Amino acid sequence: MFHQLEEINAKPGVFEHYTAEALWADPYRSKQMLTYHLNEDVDLSSRNIAFIDRSSSWIIDRFQLGPGKSVCDFGCGPGLYTSRFAKSGAEVTGLDFSENSIHYARGQAKQAGQRITYRHLNYLEFEPDDRYDLITMIMCDFCVLSPAQRRHLLAIFHRSLKDGGTVLLDAYSMAAYSERTEASFYEKNQLNQFWCEEDYYCFVNTFKYDAEAVVLDKYDIFPKRGAPQTVYNWLQYFSAERLTEELSAAGFVMTDRYSDVSGGPFSERHSEFAVVAKGI
Ligand SMILES: C[S@@+](CC[C@H](N)C(=O)[O-])C[C@H]1O[C@@H](n2cnc3c(N)ncnc32)[C@H](O)[C@@H]1O
Repeated sequence: MFHQLEEINAKPGVFEHYTAEALWADPYRSKQMLTYHLNEDVDLSSRNIAFIDRSSSWIIDRFQLGPGKSVCDFGCGPGLYTSRFAKSGAEVTGLDFSENSIHYARGQAKQAGQRITYRHLNYLEFEPDDRYDLITMIMCDFCVLSPAQRRHLLAIFHRSLKDGGTVLLDAYSMAAYSERTEASFYEKNQLNQFWCEEDYYCFVNTFKYDAEAVVLDKYDIFPKRGAPQTVYNWLQYFSAERLTEELSAAGFVMTDRYSDVSGGPFSERHSEFAVVAKGI
């Protein structure tokens, strides 16, 4: 027991493991994620509906989405943005590795008579056969990736964009990083039975990596019967300068920055920010 607790509480190397599928695409958890996505009042999995309405209207306007324009949304979830983008008449594609979310998004599109292309895949393995005017990645999903994964994804963005095409993504700020604190606790059936259907104990460790401005929320789950599992939720926090440098190293120039993907004025004090970048 002592050695097991030592292991649970040991700080891993930064971005040592990638377990995003266990969080989003696991059949049991993805059902609960979908409930969070569709809860219109909370900012869990997707932001609240008032924000999504405001944000998608701003995006349609800012990037002049409409007939003849194409947009690809990376990590589209159940299609809350893609369904709104499609109303502009633009050609819309959504990518997500949650089968449950893609299934829901396809059903909604069918019901609404919308022609949206949904692809069930890991966006890190996306091979574009089309080129897009706009790529979006919304709700700071860029921040869950390691520096190597971000370089890889930005190369995919570059290959997927038409000449002069644009990327819109959001990221957590250094102001948000300074609000985070390390913690360690355990709880029975933590997060209202989010992790497993059967009873379990979950040990939660939050570690900060100051040199890299990264936070890890690590969940060690011990179900009553099944095998134990560890889920790593990494978050990279950015200054606007650092994100600009990363984009520039990948062949993009940052043209605009905002407080978030609804287009408010940029502020370093805000917990997140959004950037617009053009491929060069
Ligand atoms: C925080 S949610 C945001 C969903 C959507 N952008 C929104 O704002 O409503 C992140 C989404 O990215 C998806 N995702 C995470 N990593 C992925 C990956 N490697 N490949 C494909 N989808 C991924 C998840 O399944 C989830 O739907």
